[in-house]
Amino acid sequence: MSAADFLKNAKFETLKTAVDELGIATIEINRPQALNALSALVVSDLHELLTELSSRAGLNGEQDWSVRGLILAGAGDKSFIAGADIAEMRDMNEMQALAYAGKAQEVTKLFGALPFPTVAAVDGWALGGGCEIAMCCDFIYATESAVFGQPEVGLGLIPGFGGTVRLHRFVGSAKAREMIFTGMRITAAEAQEAGLVTKLFADRDALFNGVHETLKLATKQSPTAIARAKATMAATESQSISEGLTTELSNFAACFGTPDMVEGTSAFVAKRKPQYPA
Ligand code: CAA
Repeated sequence: MSAADFLKNAKFETLKTAVDELGIATIEINRPQALNALSALVVSDLHELLTELSSRAGLNGEQDWSVRGLILAGAGDKSFIAGADIAEMRDMNEMQALAYAGKAQEVTKLFGALPFPTVAAVDGWALGGGCEIAMCCDFIYATESAVFGQPEVGLGLIPGFGGTVRLHRFVGSAKAREMIFTGMRITAAEAQEAGLVTKLFADRDALFNGVHETLKLATKQSPTAIARAKATMAATESQSISEGLTTELSNFAACFGTPDMVEGTSAFVAKRKPQYPA
């Protein structure tokens, strides 16, 4: 079964999935009654879905480009994700917290390793684990009414799904410290100014149109080159400039002679549009 067919047929209690004709997939966290808080069941559903999806998509085995982009959203019109499930966490001990947050961190890594662009479409609350899950996507688009924050210290906790690791990569160390040490909420406009959000939209419909338009651009590019660029950027994140350049060089050279590189460069020389696998 292709990656797209897997997503079209997937049945998860807490997730809604869809794929359009361009291969743009949507995953919606479907717990609107709890503002899409990440219960243990949501985390385990996401883990199972992403494990399956990543075993099929992209360069694994037979190349599968049936999915070319992914939108992560929250169901309902109030919240993207209001964080980890506080009621469930209240009754956890240290070992249970390790298992719960460990699985959620795996989810963030699985998102990060997907071979196509992923966008968090944030409408409403993106607090705690919600802000953290948004940050494991490649970039974040939001409505003007979205609200971001890492309020964990107000609960006697620290961020556990990657906030202390990823937030400063978006907003810089000082802003991340200000947000995490105060638990302050920031508006979508402030989040954009800080570099957390890439684009803002007036309302939910405009947000989804905007995300689609951007991902549509990506579907016109070489999928193997996008996957390679994404893997290279992930690998070089923890490397020195010199090591990173070496990694980039070998991945750049590895593009040469691939069908997509032959097609892309030949199409340019022949003054026609390239045709990459659908
Ligand atoms: N966990 C569990 N349930 C939650 C929740 C959460 N994070 N956020 C909201 N809910 C539930 C509420 O308990 C409420 O349920 P009931 O109707 O059964 O009472 C329902 O969702 C609606 O919430 P509110 O009535 O509170 O809605 P509101 O509009 O008045 O307030 C809000 C919205 C400001 C987002 C508020 O719900 C809130 O502060 N939520 C918690 C946000 C938070 O602290 N998130 C961080 C969690 S810790 C974390 O994420 C750790 C980590 O890094 C992994």
